[in-house]
Amino acid sequence: MKPVFVLLVSAAWTLTGAQHYYQGLMDYLDNRLLAIEDRMHLWHDQSHRYHTELLDFKKLTDEAVVGLRNQHSAMSKDLEDAALRVDRVEHNVDYAETQTSPRACANQADRVVEQGPWRLEESRGEEEEGDDWVELHSQVSDCVEIISGIRSVKILKRVGGPRGMWTRDPKSSKVYVLNGTSGGDVFQFDSVRDFSRSPGVAGGRQIRLPSDWRGPGGAVYDGHLYYVQQGGGGAAAADDVQVVRYDLRGGSVTDVAMLPAEGRAAVYGLNPETVADLAADGEGLWLLYAAGDGEPHIHLARMDLASLDIEQTWDTRCPRENAEAAFVACGTVYVVYNTRLASRSRVQCLFDVNDLVGSEEAPLIYFPRRYGAHASLKYNPEEEQLYAWDDGYQIIYRLNMKRKLRV
Ligand SMILES: *[C@@H]1O[C@H](CO)[C@@H](O)[C@H](O)[C@H]1NC(C)=O
Repeated sequence: MKPVFVLLVSAAWTLTGAQHYYQGLMDYLDNRLLAIEDRMHLWHDQSHRYHTELLDFKKLTDEAVVGLRNQHSAMSKDLEDAALRVDRVEHNVDYAETQTSPRACANQADRVVEQGPWRLEESRGEEEEGDDWVELHSQVSDCVEIISGIRSVKILKRVGGPRGMWTRDPKSSKVYVLNGTSGGDVFQFDSVRDFSRSPGVAGGRQIRLPSDWRGPGGAVYDGHLYYVQQGGGGAAAADDVQVVRYDLRGGSVTDVAMLPAEGRAAVYGLNPETVADLAADGEGLWLLYAAGDGEPHIHLARMDLASLDIEQTWDTRCPRENAEAAFVACGTVYVVYNTRLASRSRVQCLFDVNDLVGSEEAPLIYFPRRYGAHASLKYNPEEEQLYAWDDGYQIIYRLNMKRKLRV
């Protein structure tokens, strides 16, 4: 009996011990659960707060975005208004320019040298663009025309750098491109169409010259390239400027002549890379140059196409300052002026070697508005058009001609 009692007592004791133990565990777990619940409450509160804060923030940004959008549209409307106003002002300036511009001035040549008689053939006849260049040649020699305006513009393409020149041989259909402000290469194309189809300058036939050309002032006539070189080696001083006659078919230099100038001033104030400028037509090779560093006017020389002999020189009295380019058409020099911050190019000074253009008929010719400036203008007497290089664009200006009044 006794052992059973002992067993019971010990079991009861063990049971109460276990009970205690479990009770403690339960309390502990309870407490933990309560703590976790508390924390979960806290989290919930916090996330709720975050959420509302986020909503508030979103509302704020939405409002800001709407505000910005309104401001933006107000601003773009202002801009549109401003652009409209600028357009109107430009229009007015254009109008004012055409109304109030001083007439282009025409300077007449001092009659120093005997002039060949001008044969005034009325039978100008058909002026078809034919390959009968002999007749065209005679037309140029008998030329009594003055440019009255620009008929049309064609922007052909854009190749090469901002400066350069391109021209067409008046005696063939070949086109020549001199890219940049100096170099040893010329690119030849069979025709204007050929050039316009080519992917770039390098699409043409590359002709390597024996010396570097300097400035976009070259000319091509009857299979010969006339270009300006500086230095040139041999007996020449390092900075001597010369005109070179290069036979494009034979591939050799056939003559070299010094410029009739002292100093190294460039001919056009706005294009300092153009040391001197050449133009060639049936009457000869025309050289536009600065006679000296302190000489404010553009000077003109007529040279023999074959021998490069200088036949006559003139002071055109057209200022070099703000001159951008010039060209010779029909014995008349047309000087094109612009401003340093390129605006509208215009012919504003004329010089007629034959003294046939009076001031009263000198046309003030504005070029169509463009954003660059002309690096070169080359007149083709056969087609009565200009080959222009404007900020890397190759442009053709077709011209209107009229008879000189004094004829
Ligand atoms: C043309 O000349 C410009 C510099 O004026 C140069 O950067 C460019 O590479 C030249 N292009 C070609 C095809 O020679």
